[in-house]
Amino acid sequence: MCGIVAFTGTIDAVDVLLGGLRRLEYRGYDSAGVALVPRANELICVRRKGKVAQLAAALGRETAAPGREAPVAPTSSSAPAPAGTTGIGHTRWATHGVPSEANAHPHRDCSGKLAVVHNGIIENHTALRAELVAAGHTFASQTDTEVAAHLIEHYYQGNLAEAVRQALQRLSGSFALAAVHAAHPDRIVVTRNDAPLVLGSCAYGALAASDTPALLEHTRDVIYLGDRDLAVLHADGRVECYDPAGSHYVPTQVRVEWSLEQAERGGYPDFMLKEIHEQPRVLRDTISGRFAVENPGLVFEELPFSDRDFANLDRIQVIACGTSYHAGLIGRNLIEAWARLPVDVEVASEFRYRDPIVTPRTLVIAISQSGETADTLEAVKLARRAGAFVVGLTNVVGSRITLEANAVIYIKANLEVAVAATKSFLGQVAMLTLLALHLGYHRGFLSTAQVSEIYADIQKLPAQIEEILADTTAIERCAEACKDAQTVLFIGRGVGATTCYEGALKLKEISYLHAEAFSAGEIKHGPIALIDPDGLDDPTKATPVVVVAAQSATYDKTLANIEEVIARGARVVALATAGDKRIAELTERVISIPPVRECLSPILASVPLQLFARAIACARGCDVDQPRNLAKSVTVE
Ligand code: AGP
Repeated sequence: MCGIVAFTGTIDAVDVLLGGLRRLEYRGYDSAGVALVPRANELICVRRKGKVAQLAAALGRETAAPGREAPVAPTSSSAPAPAGTTGIGHTRWATHGVPSEANAHPHRDCSGKLAVVHNGIIENHTALRAELVAAGHTFASQTDTEVAAHLIEHYYQGNLAEAVRQALQRLSGSFALAAVHAAHPDRIVVTRNDAPLVLGSCAYGALAASDTPALLEHTRDVIYLGDRDLAVLHADGRVECYDPAGSHYVPTQVRVEWSLEQAERGGYPDFMLKEIHEQPRVLRDTISGRFAVENPGLVFEELPFSDRDFANLDRIQVIACGTSYHAGLIGRNLIEAWARLPVDVEVASEFRYRDPIVTPRTLVIAISQSGETADTLEAVKLARRAGAFVVGLTNVVGSRITLEANAVIYIKANLEVAVAATKSFLGQVAMLTLLALHLGYHRGFLSTAQVSEIYADIQKLPAQIEEILADTTAIERCAEACKDAQTVLFIGRGVGATTCYEGALKLKEISYLHAEAFSAGEIKHGPIALIDPDGLDDPTKATPVVVVAAQSATYDKTLANIEEVIARGARVVALATAGDKRIAELTERVISIPPVRECLSPILASVPLQLFARAIACARGCDVDQPRNLAKSVTVE
């Protein structure tokens, strides 16, 4: 997803912009650029297809890795470094127009004096472009963003903030914008609607960015701008904020406690592995403080519900996308089992375009690690309009979902940099597990003793994950046996099937290997045809089938499914409970997890599947932190 950085101040803007762009790389992008005002009435624009490193080289700079000081002086003689203390930078994730230098941001107006960077989608860009072309404006790109540059130019009469304010009234859609003008070398104007933008100021200037990590090196006190508010960043560090009516207001600053080190890899070869290894900590933090000895129900102060309110609910609707959707599927099993409340789980992109049945007696749980997913946010708005109480489950403080939901439950994953969600998924599943216990207790279906017993088992999970992480030899061996396959199938039953859905998504998103998950009971209704019978004679042609076969009520049936696929020539990788001799007789490729209660098994079983996907992706030479075509925050539909 596109990333914006803007800086005006008293130090070199190039280093600040490149440093910020590096910290936004996790969002995924295909080109990068900056516009700088080196002196009054001059604007320089440098853009490159590819990575920030290529942009830095074009600027005669090298970028430092996040967390290290960026070099102050040019280190390459490939091009002169433009001077200047004011500029805007951007990483683009293509939506309108192919990834190319011409479509890369910043985009300029006809005069070449005004430049704009943008994240989101301007929905009425076609009509505006036609109007501006008719008025004599010349466009140089296929992007919706360029419309904003020309529209601001159209209204500009010497006051940049006023021109942006007027242009803003004509724009519909979701967007965050930063505009700079050669005539104003000491200021930047920013605005946003339904897209993230964080502001801050420091001793040497004022900044804005799409996400907090890009500001942390300079300030810990940030400002979250409201929808359609406008702010002027001044080189002396002032940030002037205006509401949509144009009234000036003093913004509230929020202190961010995340350390810069949290954005670094911490000695691991990639963020994904670091984040997988953080999961025991995430679980401990999630569990901590949720159980009160004197009150055997769990502590969910975020939920303003009495027992009567809980009893009055007639169903739960979970809305989410991707990995968060899979967490929702696991949550459904637990809530239905423990709280005896029907739960529907739906991908937000479908939910919002149906005419779903949502009433004031529906509890809606919207899950989004980023809190910025456009489809999920729109589904939340729809549910609220229908009178439902919406609980947002997210990882990001101050994200959009926290503003749209009635109540917010934060998972404790902390900053997740790798595009593939791992620790945030585990945090979501753990929090949904606790929530299911809470609902079960308050609706009278779980006794104090049952809550205490399950909670005691949840407390064992962090150490059990550490056990899995301590020896990954079997996982790597299984990955080696599957890395060259055309397709990998995942099968399981009950919560095992939901674990498989996430395992298959993880594999396909980071290794680009086709993977598909099925309920094991369904394979004979179609998917079993995917198993190549040549695998019976030639092991190199055997189709890999990953089977989640931990101890469960359906264990025997899963075993039968293993035999079924082996009989058709499959190469089975089994995820089984440690010490399982029956599985060992069927396949030599076994990944073990510690014994665990069936309802909690997805929390353990997901970890080896994350490592399995990563090992295959690494063996195939893929960039596991920034997989192609994907973004960390999907802020457009
Ligand atoms: C996760 O690995 C994926 N990158 C993706 O499916 C993600 O879960 C999805 O886009 C939803 O994101 P959210 O949780 O931030 O809403």
